[in-house]
Amino acid sequence: MKPYVYITRKLSEETIKELTENFEVKMWDHEDLPAPREVLMNEAKRASALITMLSDKVDEELLTAGENLKIVSNLAVGFDNIDLETATKRGIIVTNTPDVLTETTADLTWALLMSAARRIVEAAEYVKAGKWEGWSPYLLAGHDVYGKIIGIVGMGKIGEAVARRAKGFGMEILYHNRTRKTEAEIELGAVYSTFDELVAKSDYVVTLAPLTAETRNLFTADVFAKMKNSAIFINAGRGPVMDEQALYEALKNGEIAGAGLDVFEKEPISADHPLLQLPNVTAIPHIGSASTETRTTMIKLCCSNVKAVLNGDSPKTIVNKQVL
Ligand code: GLV
Ligand code: GLV
Repeated sequence: MKPYVYITRKLSEETIKELTENFEVKMWDHEDLPAPREVLMNEAKRASALITMLSDKVDEELLTAGENLKIVSNLAVGFDNIDLETATKRGIIVTNTPDVLTETTADLTWALLMSAARRIVEAAEYVKAGKWEGWSPYLLAGHDVYGKIIGIVGMGKIGEAVARRAKGFGMEILYHNRTRKTEAEIELGAVYSTFDELVAKSDYVVTLAPLTAETRNLFTADVFAKMKNSAIFINAGRGPVMDEQALYEALKNGEIAGAGLDVFEKEPISADHPLLQLPNVTAIPHIGSASTETRTTMIKLCCSNVKAVLNGDSPKTIVNKQVL
């Protein structure tokens, strides 16, 4: 009997060929909607491998039900949706998709920063709504980016790729990270800062930090209060690193000037979410790595990790090396 692989979202047959040629593969039959919990639980019981999305909760219950599970291959660089400790304890390999999405995600982060700074979404909506009656000196005037100070919280590969873009914009680059990044310091002139110093000095505070116990709720009311009134906050990492209510108050009360958000505490958000009622919020639906090319590459990497593990080889991008 061929090992059984379950994929929690409908992917194109072409991208998963490597698996269908070798294993029994089944997919949830919807591209945009997640598989319900009962379906996941049932499939996990049978599967040797799961390909999961960041919207799937791979918790202790699911991992324990997965008696035959050898690998959970997550279609994302982040893996906060997976109970890594339980997976490791049960000898289940967890893989992610780092590196292949670095530049694509940095591009999106940059687009979000530029959009928030120059009010691109607001301006485009203005034109489409037929409100444009003529040129005027301060019409939709935004904030400069060139030559300003950017502070990057979470200086992983994506953070460094954002810093390279910032260098091209003549920006002064501050960063905060668990570990020092000497190469970025030398190559880009990035300056390591304490969190408080970065937050107080930056014109653009950009968070790309993964969600961990240390980063959860990092951006509180106190933190937004320390930012410049002209600061723009960009989150292209994980929603729960910010207190959304505090961010809302800070934006509404003019403590900071704007926000560009690709991620939220609970996704998806609905149109009546308070943040969406503010004109100085640019919100997009967690599309950091969403270029067609990169998503295809990510899916293929997920498949190749599954194939490797089911064939008894080492996967390319393992998160919990201890289990090997
Ligand atoms: C997206 O948020 C990812 O973790 O890949
Ligand atoms: C994580 O999101 C990173 O900065 O690589």
